Amino acid sequence: MFELQAVLGFFIVFGILKWVYGSPKIKDAEPPPDNFGTKEVPFGRTDPKTFDEYKGQERVKRLLKLTLDTVFHNPHPKLLLVAPKGVGKTALAKIFAHAYLQKIRQHAPGSGRYIELVASTIRNKADLDNFMRRLRLWDVVFMDEVHLLRRRHADTLLTALAENRYPFAEGMSELPTSFVWLAATTDVGLLPEAFRDRFQVIKLDHLDIAALTEIAMSQDLPVAREAAREIAVRAVGYPREIKRVYARARDVALQAGSSEVTLEHAQVAFDLIGLDSNGLYPEDYEVLKVLYEHPKFYAPRKDGTRPMRYAQSERVVRALTGMDESLYRDSVEPKLLRLGLITVSSAGRELTDKGLALVKSLRKTR
Ligand SMILES: Nc1ncnc2c1ncn2[C@@H]1O[C@H](COP(=O)(O)OP(=O)(O)OP(=O)(O)O)[C@@H](O)[C@H]1O
Ligand SMILES: [Mg+2]
Repeated sequence: MFELQAVLGFFIVFGILKWVYGSPKIKDAEPPPDNFGTKEVPFGRTDPKTFDEYKGQERVKRLLKLTLDTVFHNPHPKLLLVAPKGVGKTALAKIFAHAYLQKIRQHAPGSGRYIELVASTIRNKADLDNFMRRLRLWDVVFMDEVHLLRRRHADTLLTALAENRYPFAEGMSELPTSFVWLAATTDVGLLPEAFRDRFQVIKLDHLDIAALTEIAMSQDLPVAREAAREIAVRAVGYPREIKRVYARARDVALQAGSSEVTLEHAQVAFDLIGLDSNGLYPEDYEVLKVLYEHPKFYAPRKDGTRPMRYAQSERVVRALTGMDESLYRDSVEPKLLRLGLITVSSAGRELTDKGLALVKSLRKTR
């Protein structure tokens, strides 16, 4: 009886010690667990799926193809795509992931998964541990909005990716010998500096009219060239705008029983969504109008004149337009800055001469 208790006791103690100190190693050969990641990259129906279908950004595409061609020599590419909203980061990351998975499957059939990781879902170290524990050989991870990752988790992750081992709660463990890490952000300035050092930073530019016209012409319904060009002009550099206008213009064409989107259909779509020939929406004009109608006045000079500037703080602009923070910061302000209609100055957000001329011209036509 005593012997039985001693043997049982030994196994219980051994089990507890193993549980506490054992460090389960991530084995490259282990099959993927549960439903983590997907075998195929989940493209949207109208998303570009290959580098050829992804228009413009030629330099960036060459760089990514180079990374793909040398992936067996450099098995841990870490790429950070940086661009304003709607310029094509997610689309490009998915195309790269798809091409990568195709390539490695020629080498290791059936392997590799696409894993999307939304940075804001990593609330604590246990979440990050849980994620890293499930990583397997040949996986490709895409972390969107990476600037939302908390600082201490970003530091842990960066060190792990550099050293290829990760500090799990149970102890240090090696990471799989090969996987790709893609990240995307609209604001590289919000990231720890180490991120910019350890990741290859790839900046995407706004698209030119030729590339935007091509996108408009490569949707499911044919689009007349002059319609595609006008849509491209009003998209002012943003491929997402092409998609938005095209979707309405196609509906207008279909409603009219047409098998092609003409310039007339596009004009109806512009009116319906409120996009004018300057590529501006009513909310963009709201900001310009507020700056014009609520200028900042400064203390009078000695000669009695009162200096004035068409400027306000961002907070006041948002309060006066009633615009929510993310719409203002992510979409409206970057576009107005890019079009040279406002500027960020010591006085806050300020109308440029071009912005002032535009507001004045509108007032004249009313
Ligand atoms: N170069 C391109 N060629 C064809 N379609 C494109 C291109 N760039 C973007 N698109 C399309 O434009 C839309 C917006 O692109 P995407 O979602 O990749 O932008 P994003 O930079 O990830 O934006 P966000 O910061 O809001 O996430 C998508 O429908 C995408 O398929
Ligand atoms: Mg995106």
